[in-house]
Amino acid sequence: MSRATVVHVNTVKLAEDSYTRMMQEKYLACVVLRMRQIKPFSSNDPLSLLKRKLHFSSVLRQIKKKDEFPYKVGFIGAGNMAKAIGFSSLDSGLLTPSQMIVSDPTPSQFEPWKARKVATTDENVEVVSFADIILIAAPPQHFDHVISSLQDPRLSTDHQKCFVSTLVGKTVRALEEALNSVTGLKVNPQVIRVTPNTPAMVGAGCSIMVCDETASYTKPVLQLLKASGSCEIISEEWMNACSATSGSGPAYIYLVFRIE
Ligand SMILES: NC(=O)c1ccc[n+]([C@@H]2O[C@H](COP(=O)([O-])OP(=O)(O)OC[C@H]3O[C@@H](n4cnc5c(N)ncnc54)[C@H](OP(=O)(O)O)[C@@H]3O)[C@@H](O)[C@H]2O)c1
Repeated sequence: MSRATVVHVNTVKLAEDSYTRMMQEKYLACVVLRMRQIKPFSSNDPLSLLKRKLHFSSVLRQIKKKDEFPYKVGFIGAGNMAKAIGFSSLDSGLLTPSQMIVSDPTPSQFEPWKARKVATTDENVEVVSFADIILIAAPPQHFDHVISSLQDPRLSTDHQKCFVSTLVGKTVRALEEALNSVTGLKVNPQVIRVTPNTPAMVGAGCSIMVCDETASYTKPVLQLLKASGSCEIISEEWMNACSATSGSGPAYIYLVFRIE
């Protein structure tokens, strides 16, 4: 990082208003993060150059006030992908902690969620009872257990819900068949299949999703995923190829950097 750049960042004046200030701080955090990874530019105005080159405006566009997102969101599995999507939604202001709940069989996974005041439970059925949009972020081999945990008399709703699956290899059809068998869900849920990638953990994810574009939850789920980066809708036949590229792609870029 050049000396001129450091001076510029240090002398940025932050706004009095808390919302604008939050946006400024997020922007500066991105700038600092990127500067650690990228060689300095020769321009006299590195901040504006970075803004144009690295599409920070797209990050800022995703910042929504909480009243624009009237959905409750639940996470089944409290691991890396749930944290990436959940914490980005919180940090961007799209969701508040009271709109969220997370379940996991491992209590130690809850610490970062509790630190952000998100409700936690070891019962998946509580997540599905509470939330409108439920992200399934457990390992794929535990999917049958997730479904059986929802066959519970406490779950009884005629409100349509949306399940967003991150499970690698589970087709929309297989997910629909399993979820439609849950007796407490009186209305068949909308099912969306998504593949996030690890850069989502720093708000620079590149997610792909398979969904019915006209269904009611599609737009809010896109908003949710775009809080941690970009998201493109693709057809399911491309899911495996795109997952391999977006999942492994960042690692190849690291290899290129290493060779240089
Ligand atoms: N990481 C990636 O880059 C990536 C990319 C695309 C898709 N995915 C998919 O996203 C999902 C989550 O991946 P991840 O990296 O976040 O995994 P992770 O960090 O291991 O988190 C998964 C969490 O789910 C918990 N879990 C296990 N069984 C459960 C159940 N029956 N109900 C609720 N929670 C349960 C696990 O607990 P235990 O540790 O106790 O088992 C663990 O805390 C996986 O299906 C993966 O295939 C991951």
